[in-house]
Amino acid sequence: MQDLLNEIAEAMGAETERGKVADYIPELAHVDPNRFAISLATVNGERYSAGCATSPFSIQSISKVFTLTIALGKMGDALWSNVGREPSGDPFNSIVQLEHEGGKPRNPFINAGAIAVVDAIMMGHEPKETLAELINFVRYIADDESICFDHKVAASEMAHRDRNASLAHFMKAFGRLRHDVDKVLGTYFHQCAIAMSCEQLAHAGLFLASDGVNQPSNIRVVSPQRARRINSLMMMCGHYDASGEFAFRVGLPGKSGVGGGILAIAPGQGALAVWSPGLDDYGNSLLGTKALEMFVQRTGWSVF
Ligand code: DON
Repeated sequence: MQDLLNEIAEAMGAETERGKVADYIPELAHVDPNRFAISLATVNGERYSAGCATSPFSIQSISKVFTLTIALGKMGDALWSNVGREPSGDPFNSIVQLEHEGGKPRNPFINAGAIAVVDAIMMGHEPKETLAELINFVRYIADDESICFDHKVAASEMAHRDRNASLAHFMKAFGRLRHDVDKVLGTYFHQCAIAMSCEQLAHAGLFLASDGVNQPSNIRVVSPQRARRINSLMMMCGHYDASGEFAFRVGLPGKSGVGGGILAIAPGQGALAVWSPGLDDYGNSLLGTKALEMFVQRTGWSVF
């Protein structure tokens, strides 16, 4: 397995078409597009990595998997009254469907849906309390106390929040958000600004590969049914309007972020994290996807 990851890292290092680093969040525009990392954490407790797998990067929308997990833990199926479970077929920051669908976002992974999930978990508390809960959860599932928010990235997102603020105000006008819009946005931006390495991310995702049980601690995070459901949402919605393409090419539940990371789950096998900052036209990591495609071709770990 280590040989395969080395081979993938080498092949991706040689690629000249690396995509475009996100610059609508100015703080992300400084990241070196030549970085590449891949990590695998298996359900048997094995760990393999290649590239700069201990370098933290902005996990961005991958964090939506963790807030969704917390929200389902807090309110169970009641969450679905304010957030849907269908792919949107539109870009991650699109507003169009909200107008025709009563301000209810299609799924928890598009920006509107993730903002609604943040509002749901705040439950009348201040952003600080919600963020403490979130970072503690992430540290717990990654078994690493050093994981932090990148406050510069969060501030950069807040300063350029017009698009997300529009989504939030629009949902609030439909009565979908209970809290002050700027407090919800501040919480959401910090959530997206969590910095993690591929090694940490693969470890954090492992409970989704092993029926909801964190490894190697053997502590249950969610029920097997909930793990399956989160995986199904990742498969159908985790790459926005390119989710079909990701399922076609990779065939694993996956969640991307505009920082260039992807968390992919191979149920019963392990969790994979890849990082390559250059994005494709849909805002998903260009080489991250290619690396996962190569991994799945060689291991046969697609769920199909
Ligand atoms: O709200 C945003 O636009 C970013 N914080 C997150 C978007 C994102 O990661 C989309 N993923 N590919």
